[in-house]
Amino acid sequence: MLYIVGVGPGDKELLTLKAVKILQRADVVAYGDLVPEEVVEEFAPQAERVKIGHRHKDHDEVVARLLEVAREKNVVLLKNGDPTVFGRAHQICRMARAAGVPCEIVPGVSSFTAASALGGVELTDGVALRHVALLSYPHVDEEVLKSVRADVYVIFMMGDRLSQVAELVKKVCGKAVEVYVCSRISLGGTCLPLEKVEKVEKPLLVIVRKCWSPP
Ligand SMILES: C[S@@+](CC[C@H](N)C(=O)[O-])C[C@H]1O[C@@H](n2cnc3c(N)ncnc32)[C@H](O)[C@@H]1O
Repeated sequence: MLYIVGVGPGDKELLTLKAVKILQRADVVAYGDLVPEEVVEEFAPQAERVKIGHRHKDHDEVVARLLEVAREKNVVLLKNGDPTVFGRAHQICRMARAAGVPCEIVPGVSSFTAASALGGVELTDGVALRHVALLSYPHVDEEVLKSVRADVYVIFMMGDRLSQVAELVKKVCGKAVEVYVCSRISLGGTCLPLEKVEKVEKPLLVIVRKCWSPP
């Protein structure tokens, strides 16, 4: 059996009860850099550990190996945040089922809702903020912002590209725009207005609000 489990943005207290129960029964646990080691240590000390590299190729190779193991054992693939948000959960489950391996996706707290809750940036208010668009770098440019035209954009996978997004927003958005940088959410970080950011700390996402509001 393969489980694809969201562990939330970093703080182990944001794991779901279901995630903990599945981890306690795991034979093998696989995870990448954005999953804290302490989650595995605390909830699945019995399991064999497999670390997954950044590159797509590494990820795909590990998944292929995990599918073979999952024919006999409980394999848990941990994903940062929610596994369906830029986490390829459905794609992996389709591969598993095609190979005859049952697969279950377990939702987690996504980093963007955690950023709103913990960093104090409202995503929807039912008045001026009605539409939220989830975008991922580098698939965001002038064309995308203009065609989506949402009240709120959440831009994931910023890495070191904060200045590019700042440039883009300056070029495309009106004067009322608000840009928040949310870094290390639930790990001691918070959301700050772009102009107040002194040190860029990863992981981070950017929330852009009111790009299209009149000034
Ligand atoms: C591959 S995406 C996965 C998103 C994840 N599935 C989710 O639901 O949050 C990884 C990106 O999520 C964002 N992210 C994840 N954890 C974060 C955190 N604790 N604080 C800020 N951003 C975070 C960053 O933009 C990071 O580059």
